[in-house]
Amino acid sequence: MNTTTYTPVAKSLHWLMAVMILGLLALGIYMHELPLSPQKLTLYSWHKWAGVTVFLLVWLRLAWRVTHRPPALPEAMSRPMRLAAHAGHAALYGLMVVIPLSGWLMSSAKGFQTVWFGVLPIPDLVGRDKALGDFLQEAHKALNLLLMLTLGGHLVAALWHHFVLKDGTLNRMR
Ligand code: HEM
Repeated sequence: MNTTTYTPVAKSLHWLMAVMILGLLALGIYMHELPLSPQKLTLYSWHKWAGVTVFLLVWLRLAWRVTHRPPALPEAMSRPMRLAAHAGHAALYGLMVVIPLSGWLMSSAKGFQTVWFGVLPIPDLVGRDKALGDFLQEAHKALNLLLMLTLGGHLVAALWHHFVLKDGTLNRMR
């Protein structure tokens, strides 16, 4: 089936996760700079809980994506632009999986188990290991830089379609 708009579920997941991810990026950058204090630890906990929530939501989103074909790209788009759009979307899905995963593993390796909203302990998939924890911390940071670049491209493309090409691409997600 080839529809002209995304399903309400796809739209809801897109905007909910967009808000959560932008919040997580801002919170991650802010909390990292704070001196050690009870407030810093509370913010770390909220960051981890929201990040685990994104990790759960992305599986729901991927399941919805494979069972509900999205609307086709505008016919006027050139082949290289189509490839760029598909590559960008694939990169965003990949990053939505590996960034929370790197955060979860980092916390485990640093010896701080994540207890989701203080209620549900998330299993530690790796044991305490300082070198691994430091590596995963750098990986989490580098992946987030890549996410910010990819999100920047995504945003510019969406605005270009809307205001310059005026081809209605952004309206399909509204
Ligand atoms: C989409 C989800 C996530 C995003 C966008 C995100 C984003 C970020 C960002 C931007 C930073 C700051 C990096 C820096 O400047 O060093 C950060 C730090 C951190 N994140 Fe995440 N994160 C996510 C998920 C998670 C998860 C699921 C966990 C753990 C369960 C986690 C644990 C941490 C920790 C512990 C830090 C602090 C590392 C440090 O002290 O340098 N994150 N995150």
